[in-house]
Amino acid sequence: MAVFTARRPSVSLAAAPATEPEADAATPLLRVKDLVTQFPTKNGWLTAVNHVSYQLEAGRVLGVLGESGSGKSAMLRTILGLQPKHARISGEVILRGRDLISMSSSERTEVRGSWVSMVFQDPMTALDPVFTVEQQLVETIRRHEDLTKSEAVDRALELLNLVQIPSPERRLKAYPFELSGGMRQRVVIALALVSNPSLLLADEPTTALDVTVQARVLDLFRDLTDRLGMGVIFVTHDLSVAAEIADEIAVMYAGRVVERGTVDEIVRNPQHPYTRGLLGANVRPGQHERPLAIPGSPPNLANLPPGCSFAPRCSVAKDSCWQGMPDLVEVSPLHDLRCPVVAADATTAPTAPSTNGTH
Ligand SMILES: Nc1ncnc2c1ncn2[C@@H]1O[C@H](COP(=O)(O)OP(=O)(O)OP(=O)(O)O)[C@@H](O)[C@H]1O
Ligand code: SF4
Ligand SMILES: [Mg+2]
Repeated sequence: MAVFTARRPSVSLAAAPATEPEADAATPLLRVKDLVTQFPTKNGWLTAVNHVSYQLEAGRVLGVLGESGSGKSAMLRTILGLQPKHARISGEVILRGRDLISMSSSERTEVRGSWVSMVFQDPMTALDPVFTVEQQLVETIRRHEDLTKSEAVDRALELLNLVQIPSPERRLKAYPFELSGGMRQRVVIALALVSNPSLLLADEPTTALDVTVQARVLDLFRDLTDRLGMGVIFVTHDLSVAAEIADEIAVMYAGRVVERGTVDEIVRNPQHPYTRGLLGANVRPGQHERPLAIPGSPPNLANLPPGCSFAPRCSVAKDSCWQGMPDLVEVSPLHDLRCPVVAADATTAPTAPSTNGTH
């Protein structure tokens, strides 16, 4: 399995919560191992997250990419411990050496309040329309820290500055409806940063914003990741957004990671037929014609086809693809792939003749 190591130095401005165990330098911030999340349905168990494994270092952004229903949000909610009681969950989510899955629910609630935060797609669902920004920030801050009201207001201002809100004193007094969409999402990010989280989960946080505002919010995420040294999992269905924000990309299909690698590897050298389809379906700047869609639709997660889940839609499927689920294997040190057909083609492809300047 490829292990992605930090390219950027990370400087932590944020103090670790008192209850958080010290991480030793060799331990990644987050290690997700064999994570499975299932929900009961009338047709049997629906497997939304299917044996997902990866690891993430502090100061790095993992972009998680996939079509609707591929299990992206289910994975984030499982990490955060937000799944309903009837969900069946197995595997490990080890954050700074502690397994969040095997924790008691009271420990998990504490973790949710301090080590991990989440930013959702729609800022209005995270903000209470009847309270000002100041009231919402101050209340959240005082739940985390033993501060007087005026100290909490100072901290709220500090956070609004951190998320680069112009005229923060004025915005503090505003109600959510008085702010633009981009500004609201910055307030939501400020709320998520109140606890100095080690891990920030972002579920399509820019999808509801227009393109220009989206670009600025992506810059903010990148800046905060670098400055605060958090690990970030950033879910998106848009490859160009993943390429902009992430260090690594994991492509999910039908609950599984089918390809994973550094941004350069995935964008310049996509190997999995599904990733190639996503690239083809992506609208590029200046592109006017309708992008190609991947034919067919994702499988029913309560009744997966035998073998590779992508086989019914795959233009290069072979008989063997229907026999068993391929493993995710390393095809280069920075690239893992779940497709033996493409991997075999790559190794048997004739190598280009060497150009030694003799002709
Ligand atoms: N609480 C739940 N109970 C039953 N099924 C669920 C539950 N949460 C998610 N699912 C199912 O799990 C599958 C994956 O859903 P998920 O929300 O993770 O997809 P997604 O990749 O985030 O899609 P989108 O891009 O549309 O947000 C879907 O089939 C969904 O219906
Ligand atoms: S394993 Fe087979 S069906 Fe699956 S993506 Fe590869 S070629 Fe297509
Ligand atoms: Mg989702």
